[in-house]
Amino acid sequence: MDADVLAQVLRGLPPIDDPNVLVGTSTADDAGVYRVNDALALVQTVDFFTPIVDDPYTFGAIAAANALSDVYAMGGTPVTALAIVGFPEDQDPAILHEILRGGAEKAREAGINVIGGHTVKDAEPKYGLSVTGLIHPERIIRNSSAQAGDILFLTKAVGTGILTTARRRDAIDDAAMDEAIVSMSALNRAAAEAMDGCAVHAATDVTGFGLVGHLREMLDGAGVGADIDAGAIPVFEGVLALAQDGVVPGGTRTNLRQALANGVAFDDRIDESLRLVLCDAQTSGGLLVAVAAGDAERYAARARELGVAIVARIGITTATTGLRIHG
Ligand code: CO
Ligand code: CO
Repeated sequence: MDADVLAQVLRGLPPIDDPNVLVGTSTADDAGVYRVNDALALVQTVDFFTPIVDDPYTFGAIAAANALSDVYAMGGTPVTALAIVGFPEDQDPAILHEILRGGAEKAREAGINVIGGHTVKDAEPKYGLSVTGLIHPERIIRNSSAQAGDILFLTKAVGTGILTTARRRDAIDDAAMDEAIVSMSALNRAAAEAMDGCAVHAATDVTGFGLVGHLREMLDGAGVGADIDAGAIPVFEGVLALAQDGVVPGGTRTNLRQALANGVAFDDRIDESLRLVLCDAQTSGGLLVAVAAGDAERYAARARELGVAIVARIGITTATTGLRIHG
């Protein structure tokens, strides 16, 4: 849903007043966190959606990587997952088998198992996971605790929303999706493991609200601003040209509209199509990590060492509020 609509819907629900709820809904974080005891907390999240690629196995793998990502974004270690499935009565069950196999194998790659789930008959296939992770209550990495002067890193390229829309409209062929499929299928595990032992103040993953939207949540939550270098943001090949041709998902346009309504300042040199790309609604995007300046290079080096292909230094947080994106 739209970020602003969702905020409206959530307003006025019964308040969360359990002191063991360490992270609830108030900061739009990636997952909820519940303290079991002084040394252990549960990290819980759920994510599911309709197919974004043709191949069912790949769809399952991407959906699982996307769901697991919210546990990684909190600094947690996934332990179990449950599957959420909607499937049409008139479609071949073998397709659903492939979706589940893709998800289960991705979960195994993350070191966990899918230990149950629930299925419903549905007009359109839907698949995802509810993932439970563990974390030490003092090592939670919130999305809302960045400090002025933090260096911001992004660990995957952006543009998956535009690319999947383009593929659906036959504006590009399968091969043009390869790079984005590899990226969406990749776990954010290594990017998260690299945070351990570094002075990381905040982290989140880039998904439906786009890089700008998730960055905005991070800044708003902490009461800080940021200067971002648009040129440092990695973008998948072909995405800008597609945006120029108007091949842009509705969610991405909504994200840009909301960015502008909330005062995001784009440099004049950043044209409409690049603005859309920076707001593009992502599936299974990278981690956005705010690291104390003194530890920034150490985080980047560790992430690369652990096999993270992209560790882009995209900007810096500031005491002055507001998000300024420079061309
Ligand atoms: Co998230
Ligand atoms: Co989510």
